[in-house]
Amino acid sequence: MKKLRVGHAGCGSVSIRGILPHITQPDAQEHLELVAVCDVDGERARAVADQFGAERSYNSFEELIQSDDIDMVIIATPIFLHAAQAEMALRAGKHVYVNKSMALTLDEADRVMQAVKDTGLKLVSAPGQMLAPSLSKIRELVQKGDFGHMYWGFANNTGGGHGVEMYQSGNTSIRRDPTWYYKKPSGGPIYDMGVYSLHSVTGILGPVRRVTAMSGIVRNERRFDDQVIDVEMDDNTWMVLDFGHNCFVTVGAGLCHHGVHMYWGQLALYGSDGGVEISKLDDATGWPSELRILRGGSEELIQTPISEHPLLRGEHLTLPEPHIYVDIMHLVDCIRHERTPVASLEHARHVVEVIEKSYIAAHTGVAQQITSTF
Ligand SMILES: NC(=O)c1ccc[n+]([C@@H]2O[C@H](COP(=O)([O-])OP(=O)(O)OC[C@H]3O[C@@H](n4cnc5c(N)ncnc54)[C@H](O)[C@@H]3O)[C@@H](O)[C@H]2O)c1
Repeated sequence: MKKLRVGHAGCGSVSIRGILPHITQPDAQEHLELVAVCDVDGERARAVADQFGAERSYNSFEELIQSDDIDMVIIATPIFLHAAQAEMALRAGKHVYVNKSMALTLDEADRVMQAVKDTGLKLVSAPGQMLAPSLSKIRELVQKGDFGHMYWGFANNTGGGHGVEMYQSGNTSIRRDPTWYYKKPSGGPIYDMGVYSLHSVTGILGPVRRVTAMSGIVRNERRFDDQVIDVEMDDNTWMVLDFGHNCFVTVGAGLCHHGVHMYWGQLALYGSDGGVEISKLDDATGWPSELRILRGGSEELIQTPISEHPLLRGEHLTLPEPHIYVDIMHLVDCIRHERTPVASLEHARHVVEVIEKSYIAAHTGVAQQITSTF
């Protein structure tokens, strides 16, 4: 079968650490071929093209998507660019994989949805949480009614901030100025991190009906080397999601501190007859690797190693961010076999509305109805 030809946009941290190393492995290259990369920093794009064996590099996204020999585009640029770039790529005739979050507002997501409808092309949106065997297992148990009527839960994604992440230490090519992660319109921990928990809980429990939130800035200033970054976006947010039938789940996202009991990617959901808690998390994917199942007064631990996913073999188990690789290969599979994406535009659009309305609720003090579904 003909290989899909890939154009990659954004040669920043995640691309160099976690996307390009995966898609240039021999098993991935049986299905796709990296043809071109782009970054507004043209020199960087050229260096990345050389490093990963792409034929061409561009310093503009518009040029990349005009290439006739590209079938699909991977978007790994700052979040505020995602929706417009996804729409442009679709209208230029390319299938799209867009990193999270897909958009900032429901209006933006609607424009992407219209472009998919108009072109009939495929779009897979990160994060593909429901592609994780462990999370789809939880959904299966919930849907079978093993835990009774689901009514309560919490999830969070809390980290120290982008300037202090491990890959930012040392003077490597991976290191990037994290300023946009603290600025309006797309900074803050929800569009970048809380979006994982939001996809997990909605993937398991279904669409949210109503949301309210508390949100604010804890640290007004961040540092990156000698540079002082004035923080504009809230770095501390708690949302309460109403799923209907008195089922409420809190989701938190913060850029301040994380701990042992409150750790990144935590998830616990309870029903009238039991519940499920993540008891171990895989660091590379952020997927649960052990579940504690509470049922009928007893407790059972289920191992859910990420290698349960058929694509995660060999080098993919040692490289960072293997979940992004799974998402991208999901797009390849959907294009090849005319399948409907599990990591769907509709799901991502719903989560985008939840995020947008959470901020409105936090800043007005009024709970917001959610209109979208998936
Ligand atoms: N950093 C992580 O650990 C991580 C992990 C998973 C997913 N992500 C997601 O990946 C995306 C990128 O994150 P990052 O940390 O790599 O950001 P980054 O700031 O390190 O890199 C973004 C790159 O995009 C380039 N860029 C900016 N405007 C552009 C444009 N118009 N066209 C082409 N390139 C442009 C920048 O020059 C930069 O090289 C975000 O959506 C983020 O949420 C990041």
